[in-house]
Amino acid sequence: MNMERRKFLEKAAVLGIGLFAAEIACSREKGIPSEPGTSRQEVTGPEVIELPAFEKNSTFTLDQALVNRKSMRSFTDTPLSPEKLSRLLWAMTGVNRPNGRRTTPSALAAYPVDVFSALPGGVYRYETKEHRLVRVLSEDIRSKVPIQPGFKKAAMIALYVANVKRRLGGKRTIRWADIEIGCMVQNLYLEAASLGIGSCVFGLVRYGKVSKLLGLEDNQLLRIAQTVGPIDK
Ligand SMILES: Cc1cc2nc3c(=O)[nH]c(=O)nc-3n(C[C@H](O)[C@H](O)[C@H](O)COP(=O)(O)O)c2cc1C
Repeated sequence: MNMERRKFLEKAAVLGIGLFAAEIACSREKGIPSEPGTSRQEVTGPEVIELPAFEKNSTFTLDQALVNRKSMRSFTDTPLSPEKLSRLLWAMTGVNRPNGRRTTPSALAAYPVDVFSALPGGVYRYETKEHRLVRVLSEDIRSKVPIQPGFKKAAMIALYVANVKRRLGGKRTIRWADIEIGCMVQNLYLEAASLGIGSCVFGLVRYGKVSKLLGLEDNQLLRIAQTVGPIDK
């Protein structure tokens, strides 16, 4: 992709996220409920969100992130800025070397886990190589994923899907994929802690319903989910 096109797509992504944030703010002003899953008008995000580049020179130390890491369960409906979204996904499992390897380890570098990101503008697949989100569903499903009410309006719900066909084969895949997911979960917790926002991994997921909404195939198993976003202080 040439630089001009890349810059254009980055601007479009920023605009797209800004638009759905503006829509939520506007709904609030009009007194329309903004809780996902209520009568709020659905807003579809852009088809592709090119995640903006950012400086990886945070002065927030790993020790500080470890001290602050905890599960938080009461989210506001404030959306994530494009930069925060970019940082969170990159920390979770972004590419950190020229050979395409990532912030998380993977058995045989097979990368059998796909991460889907449920946002107000739809559900997106995180493409690590391109560091972008590609929309797979034009629906805000955040209220349909968790059983716990406090999680329903989190700015983002990460959905961890193991692809049991991908290279490893058989039972080993699922065991190793789950370990890989654990690494992603902790990375996301730590990045959220460093950004001063909340996160909680949760097993109480409506697995059947969400798998159906995403159109997952038999070899794609939704294993667990994780909220991330601004919290009620
Ligand atoms: C595999 C797994 C599943 C979890 N499922 C839930 C859940 O469904 N709901 C929830 O509120 N917390 C869930 N948690 C978060 C734990 O409750 C939390 O980590 C624990 O209470 C310790 O708190 P801390 O994370 O703040 O240290 C889960 C944690 C793990 C590792």
